Amino acid sequence: MEEDLALVRAVPDSFPEALVRGPRPHIDLDEARAQHGRYVRTLVDAGYAVDVIATDENHPDCPFVEDVAVVLEHVAVVTRPGAASRRGEAEPVAASLAAHRTLRRIEPPGTLDGGDVLTIGDQCFVGRSARSNADGIRQFARFAAEDGRATTPVDVSGVLHLKSAVSCLDDQTLLVGPGTVPETMFAGFTIIPKVESEIHLASTLRMRNGRLLMTANAPGTAERVASRGVGVDLIDMSEFQAVDGGLTCLSILLSN
Ligand code: GLY
Repeated sequence: MEEDLALVRAVPDSFPEALVRGPRPHIDLDEARAQHGRYVRTLVDAGYAVDVIATDENHPDCPFVEDVAVVLEHVAVVTRPGAASRRGEAEPVAASLAAHRTLRRIEPPGTLDGGDVLTIGDQCFVGRSARSNADGIRQFARFAAEDGRATTPVDVSGVLHLKSAVSCLDDQTLLVGPGTVPETMFAGFTIIPKVESEIHLASTLRMRNGRLLMTANAPGTAERVASRGVGVDLIDMSEFQAVDGGLTCLSILLSN
């Protein structure tokens, strides 16, 4: 099997200062680096060639690479993150992606976080969140159309990004946090609800080996997913969850 590529970004010493929606948590930097290392090894074991982009001490959120670029089949959309403090994260990631895709860029006044873009087949659902505005979604829709994809905006509430609310188990099945999105937007998909008490904990990453990586501190939701016959691997990513990160946030996966 030919290797797919995963872009990740190493954890800076400044990571404990990453943006967070609620009160600032204590972050154990050594534990964060150990968790990130296990995440990278999981990707390698799943068959990805992993490109580790150098970290940037001036950008504590830089390990959350997903937010600064959305990779489609032919183009990569370099975003303009909704948090001004994150905008300087994009260029090193764009430089890595330039070898693989034609780049398009979200321009002011548009804002878009990659965590708000859920791509399934030829559809892109984009979260209307605190980070992604109408102009950013309009610009993204134009680029997605170049790639042959339709874009559907979705209101998001109570979580940071659309992909904090909804993740894709396969091309027909979505894992959804109850009350976070209007489920009518996903007509035609089978919806598996997250266990209510795990809405902010359960997250998934669909890997090329057919297995689903899930967060270890959401066992009820993982059991619900596994009972459908999905092969689930668990990983502890507590230090990233503490600053609103999920499993997709930490990588950009692309096929060559
Ligand atoms: N800490 C992730 C974010 O707020 O973008």
